Amino acid sequence: MKALIEQLPKVELHVHIEGTLAPERMLMLADQNEVRLPYENLKAVQEAYNFDSLQSFLDLYYLGASVLITELDFYHLMRDYLNDAIEQNIVHCEVMFDPQTHLARGIGFDVFMPGFIRAMREVYDESGLTVQLILCFLRDLPEADALKTLDLALPYLSDVTGVGLDSAEVGHPPLKFERAFLAARKLGLRPVAHAGEEGSSDMIAQALDVLRVERIDHGVACVEDEALRRRLIDERIPLTMCPLSNIKLCVFEQMAQHPILDLLDQGLCVTVNSDDPAYFGGNLVQNFLALYETFDVSERQLRQLVVNSVNGAFLANERKQALLDQLL
Ligand code: ADE
Ligand code: ZN
Repeated sequence: MKALIEQLPKVELHVHIEGTLAPERMLMLADQNEVRLPYENLKAVQEAYNFDSLQSFLDLYYLGASVLITELDFYHLMRDYLNDAIEQNIVHCEVMFDPQTHLARGIGFDVFMPGFIRAMREVYDESGLTVQLILCFLRDLPEADALKTLDLALPYLSDVTGVGLDSAEVGHPPLKFERAFLAARKLGLRPVAHAGEEGSSDMIAQALDVLRVERIDHGVACVEDEALRRRLIDERIPLTMCPLSNIKLCVFEQMAQHPILDLLDQGLCVTVNSDDPAYFGGNLVQNFLALYETFDVSERQLRQLVVNSVNGAFLANERKQALLDQLL
């Protein structure tokens, strides 16, 4: 099974590019770009990555992103992740990015987008790995800022597939972003949102009803609500779950409590993803391995999880079918 996990052609639908920043590169860029971080060395970084909530992680995640300054920094960030994706036999990935984190530091779309795009094109030419970008709004900022960000993104939208909603969930419901998502959908962006990570199952229903999202990121809170689970099955809404993330952020105490396999067996379209691999101790393969070690996942379940990711991807049906043919 471990070999199968490694070898299967996989799809990743929920990974934040800023959350792939390896501590080694973070320290190197801090030095190069003269950004002060409160870490003396790698060991200090590892010790700091000990979270007790989503917010305790977000504080260090935004601090880490502050070392990214030049187009070349963003190129290396994307290239590092995509190199690892190739190693893991990921054949398609949908990568989130947080423009507001960079805009707030005076770093514009004209800096990070060319860096991302160069890495994406190189890797496609070298390996055939397809990459799509999902522009995320930070939900703890006002909706007016999200609308401004969308405006700044206009010249780059031919390279952006989706729009997402991330950062601190509690106190910032989907309702706050109704107009921003309406505008994004009108521009042809495919909508997704983090919901039911630390927040309640109501946030999942609200993201579906108000933002009209096509996928829910995390969504573990659906365990609270049977009628909602029925709806998620009926409407075939993919849930992009991130097991190691949920443990590191104390959503669940232990992996054995994670509901992903139960939900899979109930017929929900759950998928496995890494979220912020540099912060949560594992890439996509390591998330699968963590599930396997805890739940003794069967080959049928493993293949279904990967099939769900293919079905949930924002890919043309033809490419989906080609990937499914490789899996069955
Ligand atoms: N941004 C990066 N990772 C996130 C997560 N797990 N939840 C919300 N916002 C995020
Ligand atoms: Zn996430």
